[in-house]
Amino acid sequence: MIKRKIMEQKKILIVEDEVIIADDLKNCLSNFGYNVCDIVSSGEEAIIKAAESNLDLILMDIVLNGEIDGITTARHIYDTYHIPIIYITAYSGNDILSKAIKTNPFGYIIKPFKERELYSTIELALKKYLKEKRISSKYKRAVKRYRQTKKFSSLISEELEKLIQNEVVGQSEQITNVLKQAMTAAKYKNTNVMIVGESGTGKEIVARIIHYASERKENYFCVVNSSAIPETLIESEFFGHVRGAFTGALNNKKGFLEIADKGTLFLDEIADMPIRLQAKLLRVIEDKKITRIGGQKQLAVDFRIISATNKDIFKLVQDNKFRLDLIHRLNTMVIKIPPLRERQDDIEPLFAYYVKKISLELKKPVPDIDPTLINNLKNYEFPGNVRELKNIVENALIHCNKPVLEFSDFSIPNLFPVKKELEEDIKKNEDLSLENMEIQHLRKVLEIAGFNQTRAAGLLKISRDSLIRRLKKYKIKIRKY
Ligand SMILES: Nc1ncnc2c1ncn2[C@@H]1O[C@H](COP(=O)(O)OP(=O)(O)OP(=O)(O)O)[C@@H](O)[C@H]1O
Ligand SMILES: [Mg+2]
Repeated sequence: MIKRKIMEQKKILIVEDEVIIADDLKNCLSNFGYNVCDIVSSGEEAIIKAAESNLDLILMDIVLNGEIDGITTARHIYDTYHIPIIYITAYSGNDILSKAIKTNPFGYIIKPFKERELYSTIELALKKYLKEKRISSKYKRAVKRYRQTKKFSSLISEELEKLIQNEVVGQSEQITNVLKQAMTAAKYKNTNVMIVGESGTGKEIVARIIHYASERKENYFCVVNSSAIPETLIESEFFGHVRGAFTGALNNKKGFLEIADKGTLFLDEIADMPIRLQAKLLRVIEDKKITRIGGQKQLAVDFRIISATNKDIFKLVQDNKFRLDLIHRLNTMVIKIPPLRERQDDIEPLFAYYVKKISLELKKPVPDIDPTLINNLKNYEFPGNVRELKNIVENALIHCNKPVLEFSDFSIPNLFPVKKELEEDIKKNEDLSLENMEIQHLRKVLEIAGFNQTRAAGLLKISRDSLIRRLKKYKIKIRKY
């Protein structure tokens, strides 16, 4: 007979309304070496015992004396006191079983019970419970540590946040540097600024910061994405028109350049600006004067241009798609926002910020964050940068109702992205096997050696016989000139 040592005797409460069965259970458990601390016959008494005694386990009958049944009692005790419960019942019907399962029991024994089954169920339950307890306390400690060490604050003033309608979060040296440059740009209200960075890095936020921290903040921040405007309308959108200038011009209309007067013209996706408009823009930047289409009068305009691009604009110059002279007017100051993967210190504060913000928006309780989750995210490339981070948080929060967010709650496409070129090769279905590489290499060297086997073997630093063996193996024919 296996017996628990006195030292580690576990305290068990029996909740059973049939005296004979209760006594039988008690004898059996005592023989196994457990400490049966009490026998009660109702749910009410069981709840009082659970609150008073330091119990390790409860054996619970389902039909009991008193007002509440065993399942209701079990649910209350487990939720409140976290004591593991094993049902021991004469009922094996599906509806009772499915009701009982919902209370997450640690076992379900049908009466009349078998001694061995009782023992193994209790031992398994105790072990499982111990493991759960260990994980949960380790977890609680980690979350507490995480909360104590991480207090994130926004990088800009509350006033500026209100104006740009965005908080700016981060703690990396790179993002701090970007903000410093933005503040410098804000001081020089006439300097044109070009912001470069991958999609979703925060170019528009930085542009807004420059505008709203500058003397121009009382006037318009006029956002223009010229690639989104049809070619036929683009000139009138930029310069405006007078009534009757063309069919459909029913009224006088201000263009962007006029709207942005005394304010800022934000040219988003500047690389997509049609070349014809580039020439006109260049003139306006020089003269600071515009004429509406169909109009006579020249109007003086005073604006600063902030442009943004995620493309290599100098490459477009080589392809004659962008004017170099325009670049030189636009990039008096250049602010480069590094991609998120190059400023990993920002991942954690951004993540915590968006978890909180989006939970509140979704009217859900703010979950804790599993501390290991952040390290996992740091291995991800974030091709869509902060926008992507925001999206994956939102997606996880919509689908997850747990108190703690874990890595498994995120649908991240590829944690360890394959290098771009390799991806291309795979897309092209290229054969990347070593064998294929060897065949290609042998062919190349043979060609270099003018198909002279001795010379080729020399270049390959193998014997001529070894070369011939390989050529045979791969059925490579020697071509002669
Ligand atoms: N430091 C940051 N703190 C908080 N949110 C940020 C930060 N940087 C970017 N975001 C958020 O990420 C999203 C993308 O930012 P933004 O639109 O400024 O990027 P972008 O560089 O202009 O992208 P695109 O090239 O695609 O136009 C926005 O929802 C923005 O609020
Ligand atoms: Mg943008």
